[in-house]
Amino acid sequence: MKASEIDGHLVLVGMMGTGKTTVGTVLAQRLGRPLIDSDAEVEARTGRTVREIFETDGEAAYRALETEALVDALASPVPAVIAAAGGVVLAERNRRALKEQAGLVIWLRADPAVLAGRVRYHDHRPLLDNDDPAGTLVRLATERTPLYAEVADVTVDEDTKTPDQIADEILA
Ligand code: S3P
Repeated sequence: MKASEIDGHLVLVGMMGTGKTTVGTVLAQRLGRPLIDSDAEVEARTGRTVREIFETDGEAAYRALETEALVDALASPVPAVIAAAGGVVLAERNRRALKEQAGLVIWLRADPAVLAGRVRYHDHRPLLDNDDPAGTLVRLATERTPLYAEVADVTVDEDTKTPDQIADEILA
């Protein structure tokens, strides 16, 4: 079945810097669906940035908010495109919700070396505030690869593709 014929939510998962929000925006426009970005939801609900939440309350508090935003997005009655924050796969509860409630989970996969070049200047990624963000990305990708694989119905290798080409591949 084509992604465009799937009634349920299309959910984009993958590491920081894979362009989940950008690709999600293209898919949502093409399909005439709303885009729900889980980190934007967290920020709208709390009135704080992801960075502020990490810095003030710690990662565990952020992860609880991340789960709430994902679970609520999956419960939304209108079929949407959901750009899920990179860490949603860490919690078993989230992985189960993705497997049970998403129409299609799409894993955007890219080489961590490519991601390192892309994420450098982004502000909502405090996990990369250290001397070796590239090494951190490699470590996180290694830890998370089996978790993304566990929830994914479809995997798109990004290589050098543009967001439009990635959306074409998902919709083809
Ligand atoms: C995180 C990814 C970020 C953001 C936070 C933690 C992660 O979102 O939620 O910095 O653990 O991978 P993006 O995937 O949109 O970069």
